[in-house]
Amino acid sequence: MKIHLVSGGCGFVGRNMVKRLLQTTEDKVFMVDDLSIGRHPSEWLEDFSSTTLEDVEVIGKEKRLFFWKGDFRNLLFYMRQNPRYIQEKYHLDFEHFSDVFHFAAIVGGRMKIEGDPMIVALDLSIDAEFFYWVTQHKPERVLYPSSSAAYPVSLQTTDGAIALSEGDINFDKNLGTPDMTYGWSKLTGEFLAQIAAKHYGVKVACIRPFSGYGEDQEQSYPVPAIAARAARNEDPFEVWGSGKQGRDFVHIDDVLDFIFMLLDRVDDGSAYNIGSGRLTSFLELIALFGEIAGYSPTIKPLLDKPVGVHSRYANMDVVLEKFGWQPKISLYEGMKRVYDRQKMLLDKK
Ligand SMILES: NC(=O)c1ccc[n+]([C@@H]2O[C@H](COP(=O)([O-])OP(=O)(O)OC[C@H]3O[C@@H](n4cnc5c(N)ncnc54)[C@H](O)[C@@H]3O)[C@@H](O)[C@H]2O)c1
Repeated sequence: MKIHLVSGGCGFVGRNMVKRLLQTTEDKVFMVDDLSIGRHPSEWLEDFSSTTLEDVEVIGKEKRLFFWKGDFRNLLFYMRQNPRYIQEKYHLDFEHFSDVFHFAAIVGGRMKIEGDPMIVALDLSIDAEFFYWVTQHKPERVLYPSSSAAYPVSLQTTDGAIALSEGDINFDKNLGTPDMTYGWSKLTGEFLAQIAAKHYGVKVACIRPFSGYGEDQEQSYPVPAIAARAARNEDPFEVWGSGKQGRDFVHIDDVLDFIFMLLDRVDDGSAYNIGSGRLTSFLELIALFGEIAGYSPTIKPLLDKPVGVHSRYANMDVVLEKFGWQPKISLYEGMKRVYDRQKMLLDKK
């Protein structure tokens, strides 16, 4: 029997991954989330039904999905005390988890990263406990999501922004200063991944996603928030900062495809970009949503809002050369999907 572990399984990336695993495999999935941000699976799984086994919910008719609600660090502590804690308590017959996807983290949008940097720093403790457990348990494969926020902010300024390439982070030579406590925790997480691989023989791959988005992302993120306002035909259209700042948007379905490709190919803890390679400013994004919604709003800049670095986008050359991989979903198609979802929600009200 194969069983995968997904931490942060009720968050944006996690729930998309859980759904994908349930749809494309016959394996079991053990999902952990404290629901601090994440949503209970009854909200995002079709035909939801569940029973209770001790303190987990066993979800679905096939009883393949197990949901442990709580702080992942507590579960890691129990598993450290008793390496067979899960197997014994929930009568599950397996030696090691197959794939471990570690999405539990305090993330949030720009408001949280700049407004409450110390809570985001708790990611350091989640990741340290996680990697310590990983080196003991030795799952078959591990996926660690770093972030484009790990790149030096000095490469993302108004005059000097470049397309960020994997080699711009080199633990032997140049690190630079990453983006706030969030970037530091991700950079540290990558370093721990490399240590786990090199010193403990753990098979681990890291991704550096740029701006991942999708239909079911929280409204605190720019893409669904802007789509919802376009669906309401907002005019004037408010934008944080001047709107000239840019990001590299990549659809969650492409992110998941990339993860599975990478797990088959990388096991030494190294990290790869996942973006489109294209810089899109927020003004361009609003214009695109305006085009989809069929109107052309005037822009109202909100200069007191936090905007982060000026331009953050990926150089995807290494990924293309090494793996022959590139995202399939165009900016227009992805944003149209998000818009359609927001429009449907609006029309239902
Ligand atoms: N979405 C993106 O575009 C993006 C980009 C770069 C990196 N990442 C990384 O991917 C991972 C997932 O991101 P996301 O967008 O799904 O974020 P998210 O906030 O939607 O999901 C994180 C989940 O972890 C849960 N959580 C937080 N602390 C926890 C704890 N101590 N114990 C158990 N659960 C806890 C939250 O409730 C939430 O459901 C994060 O590590 C993030 O840094 C995401």
